[in-house]
Amino acid sequence: MADELGELTKRALREIADAKDAAALETVRVRYLGRKDGEITTRVKSLAALPVAERPAAGAALNRAKTDIEAALAERERAMRDQSLAASLGGQAEDLSLPGRPVRLGRLHPISRTIRDVSRIFLGMGFESVEGPEIEWDYYNFEALNIPAGHPARDKFNTLWVAQDASMAVSLARTGTGGSQARGERPARDLGPMLFRTHTSPMQIRTMEQRRPPVRIIVPGRCYRFEATDATHESVFFQYEGLAIDEKLSMADLKGVLYSFARQIFGGERKVRFRPDYFPFTEPSAEIAFDCFACNGSGVTDAGRCATCVGSGWIEAAGCGMVHPDVLRRVGYDPAKYQGFAFGGGVDRLATVLTGTPDIRLFYQNDLRYLESV
Ligand code: PHE
Repeated sequence: MADELGELTKRALREIADAKDAAALETVRVRYLGRKDGEITTRVKSLAALPVAERPAAGAALNRAKTDIEAALAERERAMRDQSLAASLGGQAEDLSLPGRPVRLGRLHPISRTIRDVSRIFLGMGFESVEGPEIEWDYYNFEALNIPAGHPARDKFNTLWVAQDASMAVSLARTGTGGSQARGERPARDLGPMLFRTHTSPMQIRTMEQRRPPVRIIVPGRCYRFEATDATHESVFFQYEGLAIDEKLSMADLKGVLYSFARQIFGGERKVRFRPDYFPFTEPSAEIAFDCFACNGSGVTDAGRCATCVGSGWIEAAGCGMVHPDVLRRVGYDPAKYQGFAFGGGVDRLATVLTGTPDIRLFYQNDLRYLESV
């Protein structure tokens, strides 16, 4: 019996190795292990006819043969599957059946997020978001805003200038090297040297030059100042500018808009504080602060002095005022008919208080460990 079984197993393994495809393999399986009359199966059934003493040894031998045949079948089946996968890949190096690599989700930078939040709120109040150039002419950044050369207000804006000959080259390209005058056209206005804009206010002028009232715009954008950097100052930063021009606009409208903005960006019933300030392009001018949302204006929290407002109870947010009549006249608006208000605030400042960021420089170091945590 043992010899016969050894022969049978050998034959089965040979047939398995020779099987050309899955169907052939199945035929072999049925021949030996088929439930009704597989060669192994029938022998197992006939065990009962053996003398009791011979049964254990015969049973064990049959089991071994069965296990060997099953293992060979499984192995051959796997080999066939691998082969057909390789064939369907057509010699490609990639194994398309591998699971994909997980995609790492990005997120908005806190500055971008703040700009979106600010813009969305003003959009909801009927403002339109516009953007302007970061390299600007002296005329738009200063002159048209009532800040002529030599004006003390220029000291406040530590300006990064574009080299004079670079500005000149752009200027000549603009005017067409005197050709316009030769053709009797009005010469292009002398816009002065170029600079890195120190605020977003030049877009007030650019927009009013292009449009007739009513105007309602919000201008988020990058600005530059020649500053020593510290926890609250960067030489590259962002502002959001607001401008509204219409008939019969007053300081009350300015207050209402900023009040609504404060409640939407910080939540809760915010107070708005106006204190007199000075900007050459607004009259009157004011500095706006919101009562601190973290300590409700008290300056203290359970942990002691409020870290968000440094104990003052107020968060200074923006400069603002009614647009100066000379500015309106310069863009061809009649100040007797049109008035308006403007405001300009720091995006970075807002982003630091909204995210609890202790140092503005964390926004610009691109350390993902920090940026992913806020
Ligand atoms: N541009 C001013 C600044 O950067 C802020 C401002 C904007 C003030 C609009 C009044 C009106 O300081």
